[in-house]
Amino acid sequence: MKTYTNVKDLGNLQQAVQEALEIKKNRYAYKHIGENKTLLMVFFNSSLRTRLSTQKAGMNLGMNTMVLDINQGAWKLETERGVVMDGDKPEHILEAIPVMGAYCDVIGVRAFAQFEDKFFDYSETIINQFIKYSGKPVFSMEAATAHPLQAFADLITIEEHKKTARPKVVLTWAPHPRALPQAVPNSFADFMNEADVDFVITHPEGYELADDFVRGAKVEYNQMKAFEGADFIYAKNWAAYQDPNYGKILSTDRNWTVSERQMAVTNNAYFMHCLPVRRNMIVTDEVIESPQSIVIPEAANREISAQVVIKRLLENS
Ligand code: CP
Repeated sequence: MKTYTNVKDLGNLQQAVQEALEIKKNRYAYKHIGENKTLLMVFFNSSLRTRLSTQKAGMNLGMNTMVLDINQGAWKLETERGVVMDGDKPEHILEAIPVMGAYCDVIGVRAFAQFEDKFFDYSETIINQFIKYSGKPVFSMEAATAHPLQAFADLITIEEHKKTARPKVVLTWAPHPRALPQAVPNSFADFMNEADVDFVITHPEGYELADDFVRGAKVEYNQMKAFEGADFIYAKNWAAYQDPNYGKILSTDRNWTVSERQMAVTNNAYFMHCLPVRRNMIVTDEVIESPQSIVIPEAANREISAQVVIKRLLENS
């Protein structure tokens, strides 16, 4: 594996999950792999879980780790080529990236969608520039359109908790006061479409995700109907993808907030969310605090998904 930006980079997904479960049993088994190697994590956006879990994964592999917060202490970066740089951005990303690459062996990048230009976001301009110009293996710590470390951790968590060979997994939109990217639902759909699960997506009309990620999965606009018999409920907000509403909030309808009312029609489903979560917007206190909530083990598995990815990148570099 030379880069990690989507599910296909993992190859055989079942084998990747088994590798993750093996690593989880002894997460220090490969601590020689990263000896004298440096992991650089570059954040254009805030993070709690990704920052800590990825750093921990690197340390488990024996790596030195460095973190750069672009918006806190680094020079503000120009990302467009051809711009006359007479504004507030003193450094161009095309110099900054190879310089960062000179100091490390593997680079993780977090760069969210900016919702200014759909083509810029869905071209994955920032992370693709890192892949092209850093000279080092690059992995996504959530890019504009995908969050594959999260979705891999989600699949590991489902594998650990499933009670039937082919569980019903429902991805549900839920309300949020701010416009959020589609990266998490895109990647979750990408992984569920590759996994052996009965996958259903539910959201209000107008929140259709990109066909490249939905890939023919069942879309049910009636949330209660979608929840019937579900084994896993995965809640997430996202802003509209379809034109002309790209990046806009179309609804804040709290009837879509996941509550005991909807959970009652499931097959005693587990509740999942990538976190951070806004309580009583996305999910009620009662549901997230219930025994069926697995948001903490889900977050804990971020260390494992990151470790599989970084290990594979080191093995191939
Ligand atoms: N789920 C997730 O990526 O969390 P952070 O944004 O805190 O890293």
